[in-house]
Amino acid sequence: MTILITGGAGFIGGNFVLDWLAQSSEAVINLDKLTYAGNLETLASLQGDARHVFVRGDIGDTALVASLLAKYRPRAVLNFAAESHVDRSIHSPEDFIQTNIVGTFRLLESVRAYWGSLPEADQAAFRFLHVSTDEVYGSLAAGEAAFTETHRYEPNSPYSASKAASDHLVRAYHHTYGLPVLTTNCSNNYGPHHFPEKLIPLMIVNALAGKPLPVYGDGMQVRDWLYVKDHCSAIRRVLDAGALGEVYNVGGWNEKPNIEIVRTVCALLDELRPKQGGASYSAQISYVKDRPGHDRRYAIDAGKIERELGWRPAETFDTGIRKTVQWYLAHPEWVAHVQSGAYRDWVKTQYAATAPA
Ligand code: NAD
Ligand code: TYD
Repeated sequence: MTILITGGAGFIGGNFVLDWLAQSSEAVINLDKLTYAGNLETLASLQGDARHVFVRGDIGDTALVASLLAKYRPRAVLNFAAESHVDRSIHSPEDFIQTNIVGTFRLLESVRAYWGSLPEADQAAFRFLHVSTDEVYGSLAAGEAAFTETHRYEPNSPYSASKAASDHLVRAYHHTYGLPVLTTNCSNNYGPHHFPEKLIPLMIVNALAGKPLPVYGDGMQVRDWLYVKDHCSAIRRVLDAGALGEVYNVGGWNEKPNIEIVRTVCALLDELRPKQGGASYSAQISYVKDRPGHDRRYAIDAGKIERELGWRPAETFDTGIRKTVQWYLAHPEWVAHVQSGAYRDWVKTQYAATAPA
């Protein structure tokens, strides 16, 4: 048997492929466009492993996707591919519309045609799993109950709006065509192989480079953080046992304000890679102009996946963040290689004009 995943050279998709092949003999067809966020070095340990077939391409390339489905006849398609960075979606939303909305739509069309051609038993066993985000639910005030699966959609950024649109399309393909879909809405992930434009890896990388640690606004925005391997185990569980057409929220029961995350990273670096002279990395913290439309708080109620599928995260924030910092300290070459010219251009656009607040 075979599964096809999209976006498997990215942060979560890459971790998913590595975890999957560490636990299963089932082959993975990995379709990824290799945008700036796609990095084959994450999958270097799979070189020569016949269970992993990498194909560079776009989820919106209907002919390519149809040919892959016909050739490999996967029993499931898992859609991780997306433009995923909120700040980039504010600067240039077009790519988000193209990949997250149009791309998902075209992928659904290709999958629907393939699924419709399968024998009845294979149709019944087939799954399309869509990986989405808690950001589709919008922002919570302090003290408001965490997002459940029935919370109304109120996306506030071009990124979250494009993911919300893709979620609606996935839902519609189930209700209209009977496509056997599953959707997961997960909170902020962190862990190995995370591109250093997102909060946690950016702080680690900047701290080690002696650069400022840019905290947006007052740093009191709250996110729920989940170790990426726990997200991968939740997706495997939903794929195995999720009820068709259902949505599962995935989270770490771990809400924290950004400034606390940054201080925790600094404290771990102080312990694991102390600076000469004994100063703390936290001296590099610099409050900068806030993100436009910045969502104040996300919080996930992951009760449904626990009750119905028996899933809970294995890591606490303390264990997960320690592993993450240790991973970055042990893999300076991975970081150096992802900091390509394109990455440097992005950092210039995003931070050069941002004066300390
Ligand atoms: P990422 O940006 O690290 O990786 C995205 C991958 O998709 C990259 O390898 C990229 O090359 C590929 N890609 C982009 N456009 C493509 C296209 N048109 N066709 C094929 N491949 C394409 O993102 P991530 O953090 O790994 O997120 C994966 C998924 O999980 C996304 O759908 C995201 O919305 C969702 N998600 C992310 C988080 C998080 O905290 N990172 C949380 C919840 C949900
Ligand atoms: P991010 O990792 O971009 O994830 P998301 O916006 O999808 O939640 O950001 C996490 C939080 O950290 C978010 O509230 C924005 C904040 N942030 C900073 O304060 N400074 C930064 O340089 C970045 C990238 C993010």
